[in-house]
Amino acid sequence: MKVTMQTLAVACALFIATLIMLPRADSQEAFPDEPGRETLLLACTQCHSIGKMVTADLTADDWQFIVYDMIARGAPVHQEDIADLTTYLQNNFAADE
Ligand code: HEC
Repeated sequence: MKVTMQTLAVACALFIATLIMLPRADSQEAFPDEPGRETLLLACTQCHSIGKMVTADLTADDWQFIVYDMIARGAPVHQEDIADLTTYLQNNFAADE
């Protein structure tokens, strides 16, 4: 039983470390440090992974829609952060029309 608890604790620690390290490791390319990034990392990783942004095949117009769609689903984005977040997604993850 004790070993199981320890294994669990180590697994949890590793999981948390990965969560903390991943955005930083990616920040140079995939997630550049621009306005909107913080909102994205906080509000858009609660239900699915940040990988959704990378794999999604969405145009700039689609991103506009997705932001409101996700807010309707419960993403905690403040009114004043919507514009920056949308621009960030469009700049970094929009596919060609
Ligand atoms: C309340 C839960 C929740 C939050 C918070 C959330 N999403 Fe989602 N998201 C979903 C669900 C549910 C789906 C659809 C099922 C799936 O693909 O996993 C989805 C799907 C997506 C997709 C794929 C859509 C497609 O057509 O390929 C993208 C992109 C996305 N979300 C972006 C975001 C962004 C950006 C945010 C932050 C503003 C966000 N999500 C926050 C629940 C959430």
